[in-house]
Amino acid sequence: QIFRLEDYQPSNYLIPEVVLDFRLNAEETLVTARLQVERIARAPADAPLILDGDGLVLEALAVNGTEAEPADYDASPDQLTISRLPASRRFELTIVTRIAPSKNTTLMGLYVSSGVFCTQCEAEGFRRITYFLDRPDILSVYTVRMEADRKDAPLLLSNGNPLESGDLADGRHFAVWHDPFPKPSYLFALVAGDLGVVKDRFTTASGREVDLGIYVEHGKEKRAAYAMDALKRSMRWDEERFGREYDLDVFNIVAVSDFNMGAMENKGLNVFNDKYVLADEDTATDVDFANIEAIIAHEYFHNWTGNRITCRDWFQLCLKEGLTVFRDHEFSANERSRAVKRIAEVRGLRAHQFPEDQGPLAHPVRPRRYREINNFYTATVYEKGSEVVRMLRTILGEDAFRAGMDLYFERHDGQAVTIEDFVKAFEDASGRDLSQFSLWYHQAGTPNVALSSRYDGKEKTLTVDVEQSVPPTPSESRKRLMHIPLAFGLVGPDGTDLDYQSVEGASVENGVIHLRKRRHQMVFKGVKARPVLSINRGFSAPVTLSVESRADEQLFLARHDSDPFSRWQALNTLLTDALIAASKAVRGGKKPVFEDELISVTIDLAADETLEEAFRALILSVPGEADVAREIGRDIDPDAIHTARGALLMAIAQAGSQTFRALYERLLDNAPFSPDARSAGRRALRNTLIEFLVLDSSSPEAAYRQFEDADNMTERAGALTVLAQHFHDTDVGRAALAAFEKRYRDNPLVLDKWFQIQAMIPSAATVSLLRSLMEHPHFSLANPNRVRALVGTFSMANQTAFHSADGEGYRLVAETVAALDSHNPQVAARLATAFRSWRSLEKGRREHARKLLAEMSKRTDLSRDLADILERTLA
Ligand code: ARG
Ligand code: ZN
Repeated sequence: QIFRLEDYQPSNYLIPEVVLDFRLNAEETLVTARLQVERIARAPADAPLILDGDGLVLEALAVNGTEAEPADYDASPDQLTISRLPASRRFELTIVTRIAPSKNTTLMGLYVSSGVFCTQCEAEGFRRITYFLDRPDILSVYTVRMEADRKDAPLLLSNGNPLESGDLADGRHFAVWHDPFPKPSYLFALVAGDLGVVKDRFTTASGREVDLGIYVEHGKEKRAAYAMDALKRSMRWDEERFGREYDLDVFNIVAVSDFNMGAMENKGLNVFNDKYVLADEDTATDVDFANIEAIIAHEYFHNWTGNRITCRDWFQLCLKEGLTVFRDHEFSANERSRAVKRIAEVRGLRAHQFPEDQGPLAHPVRPRRYREINNFYTATVYEKGSEVVRMLRTILGEDAFRAGMDLYFERHDGQAVTIEDFVKAFEDASGRDLSQFSLWYHQAGTPNVALSSRYDGKEKTLTVDVEQSVPPTPSESRKRLMHIPLAFGLVGPDGTDLDYQSVEGASVENGVIHLRKRRHQMVFKGVKARPVLSINRGFSAPVTLSVESRADEQLFLARHDSDPFSRWQALNTLLTDALIAASKAVRGGKKPVFEDELISVTIDLAADETLEEAFRALILSVPGEADVAREIGRDIDPDAIHTARGALLMAIAQAGSQTFRALYERLLDNAPFSPDARSAGRRALRNTLIEFLVLDSSSPEAAYRQFEDADNMTERAGALTVLAQHFHDTDVGRAALAAFEKRYRDNPLVLDKWFQIQAMIPSAATVSLLRSLMEHPHFSLANPNRVRALVGTFSMANQTAFHSADGEGYRLVAETVAALDSHNPQVAARLATAFRSWRSLEKGRREHARKLLAEMSKRTDLSRDLADILERTLA
């Protein structure tokens, strides 16, 4: 079945009130749902009520307190249809279902994770608990009562505020929670178990006292301190930046170890993958700390963008996700370095969203069709969705953007709305027509902007020719012209931006060119000296650029542009071009060569003490093999790229030898560990340097010393990564891997790093290494974090072994996908997206991938999730 946006129909029935009662037991839980149902005025009195279910067993059904006649309803595991209903518009349904949380391996609905009952209802998990109108435009006020054994589950949590609790017979106890805010079923949550807690308080701007709690496994409370700090900073930030205050008396977060995604914004009770809560210097890297900060903020920010205002239907997913990602990006940019954060975002977008947008799984930020909504929690909906909101701010300016947000909150609080409603708020607040801009939501594909410029020294004019195009994507062969905002500067000989007197050919406002037509010829007049055009500063639009410019101009920008993002971008473009040329050379049996000037600008920037350390670390993280592959785009040979990149690393290592050695020593920080951005930047730079040091010396010495001496996980894991990449088959490499395993054998989250580091080893032997690691006592297909760490990392971050020419890397991933599918379809389908770029590979690999995909899709027992991905990937 295919769901279509245009088929949306408001429901004939509403459910203003829900009372749930859970008799919790791992093997068999009874759920009693009492629903106040209301037929809408224009619905016919005999309209049947069709409730969603998923694998349910109906125990009892009553209408207005009277047991329903079997002839009046039809119950299947997936649906409850009630055909005879009272004539009155309001009535009460009582539905009793029986579910088995301990047998629920999909991690959707109610399940048990390490002995803790927990729920995941977004998108369609609530229907695995009880029959319901499980769609986001049905908003209900929930009261939840649950009872469980006091010994196994002393803690009983749900949404909203606690009402009452007490003891029952036989060692049981109960609690009742009430959430006064009407909400869709996907925001329902329940947690029951035995957990430790970190408590704190927050006073909102208007003086509301909020009890904060973060629940984690006993003994891990200390590792929740950073998350708590991030939560309080997020709450303050949303007040200051967007005027949004928290609205309940309690806010709880629970960390669980089995979780399909990152975290979930259930009203007043966020449930998190423990990976995004637990951190201290011994077990978490700086990247982990930054992710925790971002995801805590993200889920908290959903309270307004997602919960108070939610989605009319799942086609509108980006309404809450794109907007909330934008908000968490802004938060992190404020808390850390804006430029560094922006570069990291763009790298992520290019690595994950661009290949999606340029392959068979491409879809608009707001899709129009889906078979399985879980497959649309994508980089396009989240990350490109955030870019669209960011462009909106660029176009409107900070003040009008804020006015639009305010109007959106005021107008739609308590509603389930659409992208059209969202855009309308900005149109009304700013008086602008955003219809062409809206195409960013509706049209898939990454636009390309081609650009060339020439300076006339006599006339003092700069003429710029620009052309936009959007490549065709599945089921959208013809594209309309987009409104593309390009931030720019005319960089003068001394590195500062030159002024100009006037400009014709396109509208330019506050340093932003607005492309709206296919072609623009722009003429800047009164430009006193020959400028270098710096375009798409800060990555103001998520496009690819084809710029006709000379290498010396890019080098100039790398050294002098006033926008740090553009400096990084200029260097990145040059390095990527050099790697493409070098890969070609390797493939042609030649030795790759690199321009001296390119190597020296890289080293100079890395050594430039006027720049932030974190920025310099990014300068030294030369484009990855996957980045180069994506830019090559067709007939890709991953081995050639690997060889070319290795040669570039070596060239930089040798030329930078002295500089890097001195810098590495100077950066050693003797102060006690702090996760702050500045200290993290120093560690990031040291971690990039250590790779060059060992390459230059052809010895693992320096990395092993860092591994041994490190007093924090960032430097320990950084050193181990370098050892595994370059010295995996030496005694030192093996010894380091063994030491790490021994030290962390009782901490699965940390062992994930050990799995990850080995999954990235660029060697023909990695496939068999992975097969043996899958037998490791701490590996389990049932835990999504383990699967992602080992097999996910392999498929995304090991270009040579995953794409090994004999097809064995593909086979390993395909077999894992197949084994997972019956157990956890969501994770299986996600892993299968690793094949999305199979058509751009060279012929031999392409053929291996095609065969495996075709084989897999022939199976008759595929989940809907996996069938959907395979079908689209092969189409
Ligand atoms: N709304 C969550 C977030 O981004 C993601 C939950 C998605 N879960 C799922 N099973 N599809 O914050
Ligand atoms: Zn989200």
